[in-house]
Amino acid sequence: MSTPVKKVPIHLQSSQNRLLIRHGQVVNEDGITEEDIYIEDGIIKQIGRNLIIPGGTRTIDARGKYILPGGIDPHTHFEFEFMGAKSVDDFYQGTKAAIAGGTTMIIDFAFPKPGESILDCYYNYRQKADDKVCCDYSLHMCLPQWSEQVKKEMEILCKEHGVNSFKMFMAYSFMLNDAELYSAFEQCQKLGAVAQVHAENGSIIAKNVEKLLANGVTGPEGHELSRPEDIEAEAVNRACVIAKQVNLPIYLVRVSSVSSANAIAERRSSGQRVFGEVEASSIGMSGDPRDPKLVTSPPLRSNSDTSTQLLQLLSSDVLQLVGSDNCTFNKSQKELGKDNFTKIPNGVNGVEDRMSVVWEKGVHAGLIDPSRFVAITSTNAAKLFNLYPRKGYIGVGSDADIVIWNPSATRTISAKTHHQAVDFNIFEGMVCHGVPEYVIVNGRVIVDEGNLKAVQGYGKYIDCPVFPPYVYDPEKVTELKPEKNGTNDEGIQNIRELEKLHF
Ligand code: URP
Ligand code: ZN
Ligand code: ZN
Repeated sequence: MSTPVKKVPIHLQSSQNRLLIRHGQVVNEDGITEEDIYIEDGIIKQIGRNLIIPGGTRTIDARGKYILPGGIDPHTHFEFEFMGAKSVDDFYQGTKAAIAGGTTMIIDFAFPKPGESILDCYYNYRQKADDKVCCDYSLHMCLPQWSEQVKKEMEILCKEHGVNSFKMFMAYSFMLNDAELYSAFEQCQKLGAVAQVHAENGSIIAKNVEKLLANGVTGPEGHELSRPEDIEAEAVNRACVIAKQVNLPIYLVRVSSVSSANAIAERRSSGQRVFGEVEASSIGMSGDPRDPKLVTSPPLRSNSDTSTQLLQLLSSDVLQLVGSDNCTFNKSQKELGKDNFTKIPNGVNGVEDRMSVVWEKGVHAGLIDPSRFVAITSTNAAKLFNLYPRKGYIGVGSDADIVIWNPSATRTISAKTHHQAVDFNIFEGMVCHGVPEYVIVNGRVIVDEGNLKAVQGYGKYIDCPVFPPYVYDPEKVTELKPEKNGTNDEGIQNIRELEKLHF
């Protein structure tokens, strides 16, 4: 276990934190250039050739390697109490594992306990996470119920606490009905928040479950049988229809089937602002209906074409980003549902292996190029949650969250070597090309020649401002991009000012 450190705001850190990365291929979403990068006090200060830098600066030679913006995982559930169990990766082990895999920021879902207000839930998550996180993090807020109080507190979270995203569920016992979704969407629209939806038709699932159990289907195969693709696609479409009534852009989490991706494609081609997130698990593997360890919702599809097709849709921007939906339960916890599939705690791992899996199945397989890899694993998450270009971009003024990625090296995924708390790995045995040899988090080398030296509490909470231009005003996005070698961007400064207020 690492020793906790006292938090020192980035702007007060010692100026000895200097680093030069030389000769690498710098990959941004818009192209690849060979340049050197000079980092000081957690910020990228210079990019170019023949940089003039202070003596005594540590130099890393990145010849033959890619230099990528650190990954941003927009979908984790650490220490989540769900379906009678608590997910085993906490904010320390979860973020440590994230860094080991090349992810330098996560956004977790704060989920209120029964009777807890969303404001209290926010405070409780901050308390759980702040002293544990090894990398920066933000929070989405889940809305398992709808009320006037929820509506009021959404505004407080947006205005005072840097929460700019809310997740609504169309399945599970805490799903919202269409009228409640309508009201929640209206409030998101008014606040300029990102509305995220877990889209599956919960009422039809309940009927299917009833029928399956009555017919003696109690094993894990009942999970996917109760949730066919149509049920996902119908809910995706319905969420889009409701969002359209209130002119709200909408973000579908965990798009797991080609049917629902097609529903998104149709909406996007009609001009509606709809965004889709795919999970590393859906890309790395197909589901095995007999295996309770793979139970997650919406299900991993047993159709073996799904992963390739989802990658193609990610490549063509029908879908925008890849998350992990890391929600890990040990084998013994999965056993809770051995006599009834509805009692298997839902969720799988992915926070550590997301980058490798997408590289292997996407870039190494020739389906996506390195720039699109950066877009779907980092930049688009930064844009969606209004953190770009501070995060998700390698440019002057951006946070020095950087991965030096060796595309020639390989590693084999295994629970024996992973850094997560969970006692199995759904990708066990998968050989991945592409290894994060150095991972730099806010200017500090945390993975150093492959060795992980995570520091508990080193990460900090990052405010996400409302009205992300990528979501609400796409025309403005190009204006945000800072000059590669220019001065600090105004957008970055604004975010930093906001953060100081809440530190
Ligand atoms: O199966 C999943 N995805 N578990 C976590 C809860 C959720 O729906 O995100
Ligand atoms: Zn979900
Ligand atoms: Zn989730």
